[in-house]
Amino acid sequence: MTVRKILRMGDPRLLDTSKPILTVPSKELDQLIQDMFDTMEEYQGAGLAAPQIGVFQRLVVFGVDSNERYPDTEHVPMTILINPEIEHLDDEIVENWEGCLSIPGMRGLVPRHSSIRYKGIDQKGNIIDRTVDGFHAIVVQHECDHLDGILYPMRIPDMSCFGFEQELSQPVEE
Ligand code: NI
Repeated sequence: MTVRKILRMGDPRLLDTSKPILTVPSKELDQLIQDMFDTMEEYQGAGLAAPQIGVFQRLVVFGVDSNERYPDTEHVPMTILINPEIEHLDDEIVENWEGCLSIPGMRGLVPRHSSIRYKGIDQKGNIIDRTVDGFHAIVVQHECDHLDGILYPMRIPDMSCFGFEQELSQPVEE
């Protein structure tokens, strides 16, 4: 079990664009994925992108069981997604309060596409191709943004809807 240090907003490396993973499967990749799940569990995140632990490769992990932190949240299957591509299925936008392990203690209201199709491969090279909406779609868009150096505050249109979790009276998700 290896919990890795999470880079925090302000670290310029979080703004880098990550590189595609060319070798799947590999032992190094399996170890990296295990570390990412260990780190995500330790900090009770809904997802984690490799660049958040300083590995600039196009890999995200995510998944949510209904737990204490997300009692009202839809189940999202535990997923390993390598070299993801996202397609927006329509123009419908939903706003949701998001948080990020790289920005601890804060929340912001972020617009996202409501329905997406995403594709990629898992750690064995199996193809993943899913059409999703709701919280699942939001988590995927949030995590994949990290691969392009985008943090959720960069997508907040109204900065009055950004602040410390403890001070916000809004319901909290992600
Ligand atoms: Ni994040």
